[in-house]
Amino acid sequence: MDKIEIEGGVMLEGEISISGAKNAALPVMAASILSSGENRIFNVPDLRDIMTMGKLLAHLGLGFHKEGNEVILDSNTVDSVEAPYDFVKTMRASVLVLGPLLARTGRAKVSLPGGCAIGARPINLHIMGLEKMGAEIKLYEGYIEARAEKLKGTKIYFDIPTVTGTENLMMAATLAEGETVLENTACEPEIVDLANALISMGADIQGAGTGEIKIKGVSSLRPLNYKVIPDRIETGTFMTVAAITGGHITIRECNTEHVEAIANKLRSTGVKISGDGDSLSVDGPDRPVSQDVRTMPHPGFPTDMQAQFMALMTIADGTSLITENIFENRFMHVAEMKRLGADITIEGATAKVKGVKSLKGAPVMATDLRASASLIVAGLGAYGTTIIDRVYHLDRGYERIEEKLKLLGARIRRIR
Ligand code: EPU
Repeated sequence: MDKIEIEGGVMLEGEISISGAKNAALPVMAASILSSGENRIFNVPDLRDIMTMGKLLAHLGLGFHKEGNEVILDSNTVDSVEAPYDFVKTMRASVLVLGPLLARTGRAKVSLPGGCAIGARPINLHIMGLEKMGAEIKLYEGYIEARAEKLKGTKIYFDIPTVTGTENLMMAATLAEGETVLENTACEPEIVDLANALISMGADIQGAGTGEIKIKGVSSLRPLNYKVIPDRIETGTFMTVAAITGGHITIRECNTEHVEAIANKLRSTGVKISGDGDSLSVDGPDRPVSQDVRTMPHPGFPTDMQAQFMALMTIADGTSLITENIFENRFMHVAEMKRLGADITIEGATAKVKGVKSLKGAPVMATDLRASASLIVAGLGAYGTTIIDRVYHLDRGYERIEEKLKLLGARIRRIR
């Protein structure tokens, strides 16, 4: 299993470019099921999760090719409606084929994703929504089997805003009969991006990003020719890298509007951030000042940045309270940060982080994607050598991260 070794304590400087967003590319790839023809998707990051989605779509009968950051999906035929356990256990986002398969073929059989390293993560809201649209759903032997001759538009209220739930229902509704109104939907930029992709295919969608989405069903959709948005979590991760090393980093090809909550929080710790449009300049302070943070659905502070922000707070001046409101078990990085000398105690959903003067390198283990990223951030800020084990988690979501960090002067290498 690959490991990453970091010699930390180096001030990072220079320029990097942000890759396409994993969590935008995955639903857009699934949306190709809704068309019949050759779909072209641009700015797709080269990641393990993208390959998993490509292989799943190929398993369903689509042609899948990847050339650099372009993905080509031939959706002329769909000859299987089953997403087996092997795919879903590798990547929960496999569940994104449920809505489009049902809309296109009237059937879908998808293995139920179980809990994972960050929480129970049920999909009851995806199921509730499809049932409301007239699908007959059976749960058995770890599978969800859905059937619907024709999905029908209706009003669906989500108790909790769910990102992939909103995406699944939005895709299902594009080919349904009549109008579907989704209420209390997730507002993440990835939702807006999927809506834009679907609109480019001929879908009639209004309100994505507002919390209420109206979709008028159409009879067919044309194939995709679409470029996905930059990754806001990769952007935020590099912002914390600049912050923890007291460095000066220019971040290109990002979308500054998508990282406002992260930028505001970092500014209040003393990080200087300037720029607009697609470029940001980030200057880290000598030592950050502690700040509390609570994760919230967009436009609040994203749960996917909680661990990286905590890494920064471990060396802050003062104590910060970090509250995780989205997932019930997203503090797996805490025990690892303690190995580096961090002073953190967990009480329920809140981590109390007492800033220490400096972290010291140590061997640590990655437990999920964002926890891995936070250990990279912490390792870059720590003095001495940090070795991060199980970095395959990192390869699911960060394109060429060592290469990008090396460009900034980081002493980082992969041990195979
Ligand atoms: N929830 C339910 N029932 C449902 C669906 C969700 O109770 O049917 C709950 C979840 O358990 C959680 C909350 O609602 O407590 C929000 O979960 P959501 O459904 O929004 O999460 P997701 O769609 O499974 C996506 C991202 C995650 C990101 C979350 C929150 C993708 C592929 N994944 O997950 O990304 O953390 O939204 O923003 O878009 C990551 O990239 O590292 C990652 C985990």
